[in-house]
Amino acid sequence: MEQYIIKGGNPLVGEVEIGGAKNAALAILAAAIMTDETVCLDNLPDVNDINVLLEAISCIGAQVERVDRHTAKINGSTIEDVSVDYEYIKKIRASYYLLGALLGKYKKAEVPLPGGCNIGSRPIDQHLKGFRALGAKVDIRHGAIIAQAENLHGAHIFLDMVSVGATINIMMAASMAEGRTIIENAAKEPHVVDVANFLNSMGANIKGAGTDVVRIRGVESLHKSTYSIVPDMIEAGTFMCAAAATKGDIMVKNVIPKHLEAITAKLEEIGCEVEEFDDAVRVVASKRLTRTHVKTLPYPGYPTDMQPQIGVTLALAEGTSIVTESIFENRFKYVDELSRMGANIKVEGNTAIIDGVGGLTGARISSPDLRAGAALVIAGLAAEGITIVDDIVYIQRGYEDFEGKLSNLGAEMEKVTSEKEIQKFKLRVG
Ligand code: UD1
Repeated sequence: MEQYIIKGGNPLVGEVEIGGAKNAALAILAAAIMTDETVCLDNLPDVNDINVLLEAISCIGAQVERVDRHTAKINGSTIEDVSVDYEYIKKIRASYYLLGALLGKYKKAEVPLPGGCNIGSRPIDQHLKGFRALGAKVDIRHGAIIAQAENLHGAHIFLDMVSVGATINIMMAASMAEGRTIIENAAKEPHVVDVANFLNSMGANIKGAGTDVVRIRGVESLHKSTYSIVPDMIEAGTFMCAAAATKGDIMVKNVIPKHLEAITAKLEEIGCEVEEFDDAVRVVASKRLTRTHVKTLPYPGYPTDMQPQIGVTLALAEGTSIVTESIFENRFKYVDELSRMGANIKVEGNTAIIDGVGGLTGARISSPDLRAGAALVIAGLAAEGITIVDDIVYIQRGYEDFEGKLSNLGAEMEKVTSEKEIQKFKLRVG
């Protein structure tokens, strides 16, 4: 079992290159099978979630060629099977994007129903409501969603809540439905826009992505495309918080600063200096940070995927901060581990009351989920002494070479697999 071992206390200083957005790439990979021509995707992050979805796509019969670490060619003309294996959905919920993609292209899809996950119960009723509105018959049998239609037709769909997944899944199926679909109360996240741009590059006709009304005019077929995935705003935000929590100075490169505005605003509020460039942001934390309040909201609000990272940062800021999680019900699991490192946090319902402390001390902790795991690594980097992080498999789902990028910024950390390696690291760092 792989673990991270960290000797904390060094401010992180230097430059880091951000990769492609995992959440955009997951949906775009699924959408890539909607044409019989070859799609070439670039700036794919080399992370576990992406590699599992590539396997799932090849398992239903598509041809997948990994051109290099960040580029893949996909050809969906050889798909024989519209049913996705439970193995894949168990590993990544986002394989449910194959539902919208297969239903749009073949008017039939069978995908196991994803269960809950570590951050909450995560229903997909809005996705199914959208497919039904497009004319599909949707049944749940033996744990799988079976969606089929003679013909899909455009519809006017009001989402009951802002959902990234439902907006994207409906957008994919509607791209190949007859007539016009309107999605109201659509999610506006940058990855929704990226998926729409990709579908349009294949010949779809989608307008309004990035606003709360998305209009789709269905087309009969989609064609080949070459497309580069948008930079990952959550990976970028994670390094921004790492700079803040370790009192560092990091130039976060290859980003779209506009996508980071909610994070930038919070970091400035607590006393960081954030400088924006065309495709980079520099975060400098030269003084003790101060308290603030944060509430997670759909884009352009403060992202739920950045809640644990700001929580760790505020645990080290002067004064009492309040963090309210309004998207998922179970996203404070990192708090118990952080308390073991000396943080002073009380969770009541969907709110964490954080009394900032002067410092944290290293401990053996475990990573409860992807973003919480990354946040605890930041805590370890800011803490005095040695931290060992277990269950880093969650972190590897969404961060490419996290330890390498952090080490380049001066972090003393290593990925280890045995007690012997832990002892060797301890001897080396003294
Ligand atoms: C996506 C992201 C995830 C991020 C989340 C919110 C991917 C692969 N994952 O997840 O990292 O944390 O957006 O920004 O892109 N809901 C329903 N019914 C539905 C759909 C959603 O009740 O049919 C609820 C959810 O439980 C949640 C809220 O709506 O409370 C938002 O969820 P949603 O935007 O759909 O998140 P995901 O697409 O699953």
